[in-house]
Amino acid sequence: MTRLEELSDAVEATLETILPGAEAAEALEFGGDRLVSSMRYSLETPGKRLRPLLLLTAAEAVGADATRLLRFAASVEMVHAYSLIHDDLPAMDDDDMRRGLATNHVVYGDGMAILAGDGLLTEAVVVMLEPVVDPALQMEVVREVARAAGFEGMVGGQAADLLAEGELPDESLLRSIHSRKTGALIRASVDAGARLGGASAGERDALAAFADRYGIAFQIADDVKDEVAPLSVTGKNQGGDREAGKMTYPALFGVDGSRERCRAELDAAFSALAPFGDRVDPLVELARDSVAPAFAAAAEEC
Ligand code: IPE
Ligand code: IPE
Ligand code: MG
Ligand code: MG
Ligand code: MG
Repeated sequence: MTRLEELSDAVEATLETILPGAEAAEALEFGGDRLVSSMRYSLETPGKRLRPLLLLTAAEAVGADATRLLRFAASVEMVHAYSLIHDDLPAMDDDDMRRGLATNHVVYGDGMAILAGDGLLTEAVVVMLEPVVDPALQMEVVREVARAAGFEGMVGGQAADLLAEGELPDESLLRSIHSRKTGALIRASVDAGARLGGASAGERDALAAFADRYGIAFQIADDVKDEVAPLSVTGKNQGGDREAGKMTYPALFGVDGSRERCRAELDAAFSALAPFGDRVDPLVELARDSVAPAFAAAAEEC
């Protein structure tokens, strides 16, 4: 088993225990069990667990044993899971498939889906504040994650994404949307791993430089997959971005032009990791795997 596989299993096991189980949920007051079931539905459906794994592999790249950061890492996945539930709502992207299953609102209804998102986000804060490192440092990291998730980061990017629907694509706006709606939480996950793992200033800067470029590459790859990869590969409906008139890389540069740009961002991202040696291998493997389906579809087309 590779280190990445070990960490991935550990994240999965942590996620399973982070919310009340079915029995404990039944003991909650009226409404609680339905809400928790909806929260669990979106947290436990199989995802890549990219953000917690970025956090953990970044921490290990700077020499920490990431095991004690598992719950903090899982809390970042809770923030992500909330963002997906809301992203799929009829008032947002109106998607009915996610991770190969019906989206949360399709199963639980819009109201419960909104509340499940709210519940995951707020519970994430509770978990994030469990003491793991020096409290002053941890407070700074929690604040950074919250800011990345908020109006200056992900939520702001999501607002821009909605407002840009149907508008003529513009490269600098597109980059700004991607950097906020997706890049911000990726960046914060990597930096949280670095800081909680005790990175030096130089290590932290190098990882931040990686995360900046990788975050963009990841969303370009997501855009490409939306255009070319079927539901059986992504677990999401194909072609939704085009249908909604989303401002995406393929809309501006085509699929091949987007792949080129994705590759360029990745190359820049990985070159920032040169100083780390092989301690950074699991992080690199994770990042590579995460964009591979956008290129695998290219091989099949040939
Ligand atoms: C999807 O994120 C939403 C984006 C920010 C592109 P992921 O591709 O990480 O989704 P899961 O968690 O693996 O389902
Ligand atoms: C979503 O971007 C970014 C989020 C913050 C959730 P997308 O709308 O492209 O993500 P998918 O394709 O639905 O997963
Ligand atoms: Mg969206
Ligand atoms: Mg979407
Ligand atoms: Mg997408």
